[in-house]
Amino acid sequence: MKQLTIALAKGRLMDETIELLNKKGINIDYETNSRKLIFESKDTSIKFFIVRAQDVATYVEGNGADLGVAGLDVLTENKKDVFELMDLGIGKCSVVVAGKSSNYPDTPTQLKVATKFVNIADEFFAKKGMAIEIIKLYGSIELAGLIGLADCIVDIVSTGQTLKENGLCVIEEIMKSSAFLVANRVSYYTKNKEIARLLDLLK
Ligand code: PRP
Repeated sequence: MKQLTIALAKGRLMDETIELLNKKGINIDYETNSRKLIFESKDTSIKFFIVRAQDVATYVEGNGADLGVAGLDVLTENKKDVFELMDLGIGKCSVVVAGKSSNYPDTPTQLKVATKFVNIADEFFAKKGMAIEIIKLYGSIELAGLIGLADCIVDIVSTGQTLKENGLCVIEEIMKSSAFLVANRVSYYTKNKEIARLLDLLK
């Protein structure tokens, strides 16, 4: 059996992925406080790389990892040439438009939209025929809607707690998202047996 490499995004999704793998019989001993970027399953059949969520598909596309676990939101935003093998049913959230009220505000100029999902937002508003100005941010997107840097935001909602605590409401849902297992196109064939075994376990 060849060893598989899997890129994981550090954070909530990685914890959920490790929990899922442990439940399915792939035992992983990972210390949450560790600064190590590489670790292995106990049976050494899988080596894990810790990367940023936005970089998972880049590693997989570039053959830096055979497989990766990434949210459909991020995969849609950064279109990469990878196989989407399986919806893991974890990391569930929605990409939404949110603002101070549940309607789009009237603005004399173009609607200012703050987001890190520039492509998703662009495409969504283009389909609606609404001209917008994007304000690209990297985090704490809700703040931009709250203090008026933008008229509305496009961001992910999971529990809804962040919107609620910042007095924002959902205006429209753009897409639902969950975590997908993705594969490098070459590895999918060269490590077919190993990948099939993993898919079988995860079913
Ligand atoms: C994400 C997202 C929201 C929050 C939504 O932020 O951008 O802020 O989670 O989750 P909730 O609906 O459960 O409150 P993340 O923690 O990834 O940090 P960020 O500010 O870097 O986007």
